[in-house]
Amino acid sequence: MRDFETKRMKRCEGSPTVKLMNKGKEMKQRGEDVLLFTIGEPNFNSPDPVKLAGIKAITENQTYYTIAAGTIELRERIAQKLREENGMEVDPKTDIIVTPSGKLAFFQAAMAFLEEGDDAMLLEPNWMTYKDIIIMTGANCISVPLTIQDNFLVTKEKLEKYVTDKTKMLVMCNPCNPTGRVFSKEEIDAIADFACEHDILVVSDEIYERLVFDGRKHISIGSLPQMKDRVITLNGLSKSHAMMGWRLGYSVANAQLTKIMMKMQESTVTTSNSISQAAAVVAYDCNDYVQYMLEEYQKRRDYLYKGLNAIPCITCPEPEGTFYMFFRVDYKGMNSFELVEYMLQEAKILAVPGEVYGQGGDKCIRFSFATSMEDIVKAVERLQKIFAQ
Ligand SMILES: Cc1ncc(COP(=O)(O)O)c(C=O)c1O
Repeated sequence: MRDFETKRMKRCEGSPTVKLMNKGKEMKQRGEDVLLFTIGEPNFNSPDPVKLAGIKAITENQTYYTIAAGTIELRERIAQKLREENGMEVDPKTDIIVTPSGKLAFFQAAMAFLEEGDDAMLLEPNWMTYKDIIIMTGANCISVPLTIQDNFLVTKEKLEKYVTDKTKMLVMCNPCNPTGRVFSKEEIDAIADFACEHDILVVSDEIYERLVFDGRKHISIGSLPQMKDRVITLNGLSKSHAMMGWRLGYSVANAQLTKIMMKMQESTVTTSNSISQAAAVVAYDCNDYVQYMLEEYQKRRDYLYKGLNAIPCITCPEPEGTFYMFFRVDYKGMNSFELVEYMLQEAKILAVPGEVYGQGGDKCIRFSFATSMEDIVKAVERLQKIFAQ
């Protein structure tokens, strides 16, 4: 038999977090006492009004294809949200594509604007999916290593070091999975200056925008007037509204860029799920529930942050947003894969090795605290024991 796999796919790894999620769920099904801190999956149900809107959409036979870019009701509701919450003025008719997941929104953006010979910059550590998808386009990933020592600060100088004449796109995740950083106005300005000077497109993944702590303010780089025509903003409802299984996301860009991405949408998925779109319109009015979840995450963050930093071999920056804790463990010279294995064997805790997020993840671990407080308390106790040895 011929080897049918493309060279591109040979270079892709798939998602380590999805693999770890599967492993954890299987262990749970076998009845093992394992604590799961892997996937970023809120342990909350979708809001009740969302569920009812979904049921209503089914009983009312909203089971046909919708307009390819998404129902006009949903795109108008997203445009309203962008105006009120993000300071972005967009035309719902031409600037928004509702996609079947945030992940697919990135796939469409990457496929539409990257090809062989292009360089795409990634601020690392970063969600590993960007890398795999960029490889699928044939472009090169250029990593800009950020460090835990300065809390993953982004500066123009750091970006300038890695730019080439082939750099076409910079990908940023704000708030950032896995580091929990929320970019400051200075960092956003630095990225904007850099992108304008080098004529680069910025893809800004803002799926965690509602998860910011201590009253911080999330800033959308697409709201800067000079960036309007060079930013593709990505978002979705999985994290903010606990709507993981509904599979719904969206991209926002000017009409010209959106038209190009629409070709991907039309030829791959045609449109997003009609039931999920009807439910999503209602989701944007569930602010109390979103706030309630945020407060719960903040309690968990506070507990975990204090508990982990009390362990001498752990250095843990305080996450400013998301539901991830990204911390360094200096224990017997172990790398992040060895640390994950050690935690699993000795403490029955499953976490993600920092190295899968690229440079800057050495000796680091990512914990998703979208899990119960009870498990978080147990995990801190277990970690205190195994790292005291
Ligand atoms: C940074 C980031 N973007 C996008 C997604 C995708 O979310 P979904 O495909 O569920 O919309 C995730 C999920 O883990 C994520 O962490």
